[in-house]
Amino acid sequence: MYPISRHSQRLHLRELRPEDAEGVFAIYGDARATEHLSFDPRTRDDVEAIVARSVASAMVDPRQEYALAVTEASDGRLIGFGRLALDPHQPRAATFGFALRPDTWGHGYGTETVRLLLACAFEDLTLHRVWGARSPHNTASARTMDRAGLSEEGYIREHILRGGRWRDSVTHSILDHEYMALPPARP
Ligand SMILES: CC(C)(COP(=O)(O)OP(=O)(O)OC[C@H]1O[C@@H](n2cnc3c(N)ncnc32)[C@H](O)[C@@H]1OP(=O)(O)O)[C@@H](O)C(=O)NCCC(=O)NCCS
Repeated sequence: MYPISRHSQRLHLRELRPEDAEGVFAIYGDARATEHLSFDPRTRDDVEAIVARSVASAMVDPRQEYALAVTEASDGRLIGFGRLALDPHQPRAATFGFALRPDTWGHGYGTETVRLLLACAFEDLTLHRVWGARSPHNTASARTMDRAGLSEEGYIREHILRGGRWRDSVTHSILDHEYMALPPARP
């Protein structure tokens, strides 16, 4: 499906564009934003390449990857990055990820972003299952997924290799019928 465009009260989830590299670098290049992610802070060149790959992946048919920009609805500024990747080994399932620029944390944007990604997954793409993996130390991510209606489901042992050390992940998921039964979003 192309293009994805979904609005919430304050945010817009849209297709990534080549000119978004600077905004994405403010997240992927930041040590705080990447502290619990699977990779060290990216360089500007890394981010340019990631954005270019992501933009190209939107044109693959059938589309497997949805790399999306999260922008402020009021002024269009990019504040985050969200991703849904269809699971090739499971019918109608995807993994997802999300990250926001640190100066926007603590105002409910994380929850709003996850809800937009779930709306895209279940309403646009009619998926059955969406799941994400977080670091066991990533309390903000755990709380955000909980608040958006996902359930913690278990551990993947030694899932991530970062800085030469293995790290476990905790997985969270939500199914289509659980999404449909969620109460209307609280502000
Ligand atoms: C995870 C992230 C998106 C949360 O964004 P946010 O806008 O601050 O989230 P919200 O304001 O919607 O808060 C959602 C919940 O998380 C809690 N929370 C947010 N930051 C927290 C922190 N540092 N420690 C503990 N809880 C935190 C909030 O209190 C809220 O929970 P509550 O409803 O019980 O009060 C943001 O911290 C981020 O981008 N982190 C870096 C990337 C990342 O870790 N992504 C997830 C990968 S799995």
